[in-house]
This record gives sequence, structure tokens and C-alpha cells, in this order.
Amino acid sequence: MTTTQPDAAERAASEVHAQVVAWRRHLHQHPELSFQEHETSAYVEAQLRAMPGLTVTRPTPLSVLAVLRGGAGEGRTLMLRADMDALPIHEEADVEFASSVPGVMHACGHDGHTAMLLGVAKLLADRAGELTGEVRFVFQHAEELFPGGAQEVVDAGVMEGVDVVVGAHLFSTLPVGKVAVRAGPTMAAPDTFEIVVRGRGGHAAHPDQTVDPVATGAQIVTNLQHLVARVRDPLEPLVVSVTQFHAGTADNVIPETATLGGTVRSFDPELRARVPELMERVVRGVCDAHGATYELRYQMGYRAVHNDPEVTAVMREVVTDVLGADALTEGRPTMGGEDFSAYQTKAPGTFYFVGAGNEALGITAPHHHPKFMVDERALDLGVRVMVEAAERLTRPV
Ligand code: NI
Repeated sequence: MTTTQPDAAERAASEVHAQVVAWRRHLHQHPELSFQEHETSAYVEAQLRAMPGLTVTRPTPLSVLAVLRGGAGEGRTLMLRADMDALPIHEEADVEFASSVPGVMHACGHDGHTAMLLGVAKLLADRAGELTGEVRFVFQHAEELFPGGAQEVVDAGVMEGVDVVVGAHLFSTLPVGKVAVRAGPTMAAPDTFEIVVRGRGGHAAHPDQTVDPVATGAQIVTNLQHLVARVRDPLEPLVVSVTQFHAGTADNVIPETATLGGTVRSFDPELRARVPELMERVVRGVCDAHGATYELRYQMGYRAVHNDPEVTAVMREVVTDVLGADALTEGRPTMGGEDFSAYQTKAPGTFYFVGAGNEALGITAPHHHPKFMVDERALDLGVRVMVEAAERLTRPV
């Protein structure tokens, strides 16, 4: 089927759309930072408790879980996930429901994810009698800040007995009406590092009497790029970005130390595991060459998001059947990270992108930008896709 016929599901989704927009605007106006989602989780819990047929619990103090048992017999257990946190950004978007909290903003669309999943819960709860299996709705805290809310929620046992997991992200750089789906590696593992280079400070006029950590650090920055250019398999994605370099206090003083920091992004678990050692080899070698010493702290972040081919194939069919063949696009892998990967360690799943940009309306700002916006029509499309996905993925195999 490639045409979109208005059916009962579509009509019901349109009715709930106004409510989804209202939820999203409320959340947008009242953003909370990662690990501080007290009001947000209470608000979400209250909305879910007003929906008949859902069993609502708190797996952790800042997350909310709702469980819906289908009334049409045995089937699979599906987990649907939304994230709820905002970012430390001061909103500059020109909307009437702009953030009421200075310096905090829903600049990644997580307000929309939460509102959409509430809409999906409402629609599915209203027709639980036709549903097989079980649907769980998890509203997690702290996607934006390592160690993330997902791992905490998974550790609390929410994935026990789950057969399939699905999550979506609104995407402002994808036009509204498009949904990007992709099997295999989709989002990178975002690891971080800090390097302290220890030299010997002194007068800038007499560098020969010092060990300069700034010059040594600069060599480290350059040489680390050789991991990408000369060490890894060129067909295997790797990003090494030194994003911080702090040293010195005066023009005429060579400092004692320089501190570098940054991020490493990869997909392949084996390459990922090798990077700390490869990085240390470079840092050690450069420091040795210049008479400096170092400390290296390496922090593994979220795992890479790796989409299951079978679940992803179902999502492709769902998008095509609900929104038409033109809506479906092949997702590109991104070196951005997502803690959705924590759920995928427990069950096969897929994470896809719902287009929310609109050039004609000036909705083009990237994620994490003070002018970030979404075309709210995306919320309706996202809800409809996820409702249909739930109906199919809970069917017995
Ligand atoms: Ni996000």
C-alpha cells in the first residue's frame, strides 16, 4: 500500500494531536536539566494516571513507566521510549511558549518526544482490546548527560521480558513529512578524554630552561589526528576531536601544565576498545620526546546505537503504509551519541528519525541551538507511525 487512506487510526490520532501539542508546549515552557526532571516526571506521571488501563510506576525517582496489557491475547512485549531532559541553553526561539527558565531550553526536541509518547499511550490505551501482547512506555530522564538515564532505568529492570524496543528522535534538519530509518550502526559511541601535560614552568624569554607544556600539548593535538588518518581502517568511522586546551596565565610565563580534553566517536566496539591504548601511545611518545610527563583519563560513554535489521524492516513497512512511500528515507549514520543503546543491550530494537524541519517556515536551526524549533505537524506523524509500529510489533510471531 503506498497511498494514505484516512482510517480509524488516523482519525483518532488527529483528535489526540491537539492534546499532544498542548503537552509539548507545556513541557517546552517548563524545561528541566538532566538528572533534575522532578516537575517533568511528575507531570508525565499525572497525564498517564489519567489514562484508563495503564499501570504507572516509577522505576527510578526521575523516570516513569506505564504498562498496557493488550486484550486480544498473547503477543510480544514492546518497549517504547521517550526522553524528557532539556539543555543548558538560553532560548532565543521566537515562540509564545518559549522557556520560562532562563538558561534552560528544550533545544533537542525531547519535549516533543515525551508529548508524542503520551499521545501514543493515550491512543493505544483507548483501544487496548484490539491489542495483543504488552506495550511498555518508558519516559526516561537525562539522555543528554553521561552516565545517562537509560542505563539507570535498564538497571532497574524495566527491560525484563521485553522482546523489542523502539525509540524515535525528532530531527530539525530532516523536512517534516520524512522519516529516516536505518539498519545497523546508526549513532556513535561518544567517549571522552582528558590529558594533563606536565612540563617545567619558567620565564618565557628562556624556553631552554623550561619544559613547555603548551608546545608539547600542541604536538599532541596534531599527532592525535594520526589515529584517524593513519592508524584506523579508513572504512571504519572514527572521530577524535580535541575541544579544550587550557594553559597559562601570562604572556611572559611558560606554565607548568596544559590540560587538553575532547571526545572520541566510533561505531566498531573493537576499534573503540583499542583507542585508549592508541591514544596513550601518542601522548606518551610526544611527552617523552619533549621531556614532559602526562596523566590521561579516558571515559567510555554510551554504546553505539545499532539497529536490528528485522525490527528496522518492520519500521520501514510501517512508515510506508502510514505516511506513504515518499515519506520513507534511508537514514545516514551520525557520529552523535544516544543512550537509547542501553536498551538495545537487552532486546533488539530500532531508533529512527522523524523529520521536523521546514525551510519555508524558517525551522532550520540545528539541534542544541538557541533558536531550535520543530514543525509541530511532525508530532502528529510521529504519533501515527509509533501507534502502528506498536500494533505490529506486539503481534505474536
Ligand atoms: Ni536529543
